[in-house]
Amino acid sequence: MKQTPWLGFSIDRAASTPVFEQICAAIRLRAASGDMAPGSKLPPTRVFATELGVSRSTIVTAYEQLVAEGYLSSQQGSGYRLCASGEVEMAQRQAPAADPKSGAAARRGGAQGPGSASPPQMVEAHIFRAGTPDMRLFPYRQWAKTVARICRSDPQAMFVGSRGFGSLALRQSICDHVAEWRGISARPEQVIVTAGATDALEICLHALAQSGDSVALEDPGYRPLQYFITAQGLTPEYLRVDDSGAVLPSGPVAPRLAILTPSHQFPLGGAMSPARRMEFIRWAIKTEAWIIEDDYDSEFRYAGRPIPAMAGFDHLHRTLYIGSFSKIFSNALRLGYLILPEPLVASFANSIKRFGPKASSMPQQPLADFIDSGEFYRHLRRVRRIYAERRRFLLDQLSQDFGAYGYCVDHQAGMQVVFHLTCALQDREVCIRAAELGLSIEALSGFVQTPRPGDGGYNGLVLGFCGYSEAELQQGLGLLQQILQLVSR
Ligand SMILES: Cc1ncc(COP(=O)(O)O)c(C=O)c1O
Repeated sequence: MKQTPWLGFSIDRAASTPVFEQICAAIRLRAASGDMAPGSKLPPTRVFATELGVSRSTIVTAYEQLVAEGYLSSQQGSGYRLCASGEVEMAQRQAPAADPKSGAAARRGGAQGPGSASPPQMVEAHIFRAGTPDMRLFPYRQWAKTVARICRSDPQAMFVGSRGFGSLALRQSICDHVAEWRGISARPEQVIVTAGATDALEICLHALAQSGDSVALEDPGYRPLQYFITAQGLTPEYLRVDDSGAVLPSGPVAPRLAILTPSHQFPLGGAMSPARRMEFIRWAIKTEAWIIEDDYDSEFRYAGRPIPAMAGFDHLHRTLYIGSFSKIFSNALRLGYLILPEPLVASFANSIKRFGPKASSMPQQPLADFIDSGEFYRHLRRVRRIYAERRRFLLDQLSQDFGAYGYCVDHQAGMQVVFHLTCALQDREVCIRAAELGLSIEALSGFVQTPRPGDGGYNGLVLGFCGYSEAELQQGLGLLQQILQLVSR
């Protein structure tokens, strides 16, 4: 056990509380007790890591968590400092206490285990909700500064709507972003700022499909799409997903559109193979169909190089590209974008005129400034690092302690993992029990439209990990293990 002379505490590796949480707790305690004066400097991450015998990323995670909670401030090049207490701005959600009866202790079948008289305790945090970013990590201070600067210097910029396509400044920033990150070359005239990816999908359906048309969809896939399609009188053709991604349409009516998630299949998680992408592009050229690439969470790849977008591969010839800011920033921001092939710009302009734009105009200029100033990328790098650690933690715990129930395939991407059940349990039943205890787990089978023989594999649990600290995930896993034990009896 190593003790740091600086904080005068030791890491307890036998404790159920993760190391980074122990560091956070020690700093919070010293801040609250007045042992550390506001403005005092924290030890440099490298020095502190060596002192405690932990990795530097553990220290960075702890510091960044405390920045998010408003205890610390960070300035590039000058390290981390303790904030004055009045500077704590954001509403805090308390991480669950390191209660030996919850979390790992429960996981090991401790006092709350299935053999015990006390029932599993409900949690309030909706742990495992998929696709939700951790809003405790949102850069509130920098965002507030950006908005305040525009309010002072150029308020008009927040109300200009560029004829329904959105702020020109933001569309230019989006072009720069997708050129750098997704290998897509587009002009701002081809970009529509939307109210998230969902709005972009609806705009495409309004502009490109007419009642009676067939639309190809991945199965399993994103559920709201299926509702939009039926509400518009369109006919879905469900595409099976194999190891290379969605298979090509083969129904009696050639689909007018195929809506795909090639970089990260939703909800299974794999990437479409280059060969399958080429087959889709050839299919679209041959049948004059359009491919809609829903790249809803492409920024979250944790290893290797980003997988280039299909739209870049296709040079926006038959592919429309959809991106979203919901996963990087917040579902509450409701901003995303749609990038069109040149020949479609005029017809989409007409359609937008008819249905009206839905994207909120006020945050568009601030978001453009946020991207251009680099703050956006600073935030993205930070959350990606933290989410990568949470994901690793979740996968390790699942493989260590849940092997009797199922397995995960590690796709090194996204905001959720699928735990495929290999036992006799039904995913829906597990999810109902989980919801009763406050866990937000979705059943994989609920994303499937047309169960096929041999698809017995679509029995699993969709577990979101981004919005929860390791301590919260551990608490959720403790409950999940109890539920699995109870349901299997
Ligand atoms: C595959 C897929 N597409 C689109 C969306 C919607 O994104 P937005 O919040 O930007 O509307 C989601 C949300 O989780 C999704 O999973």
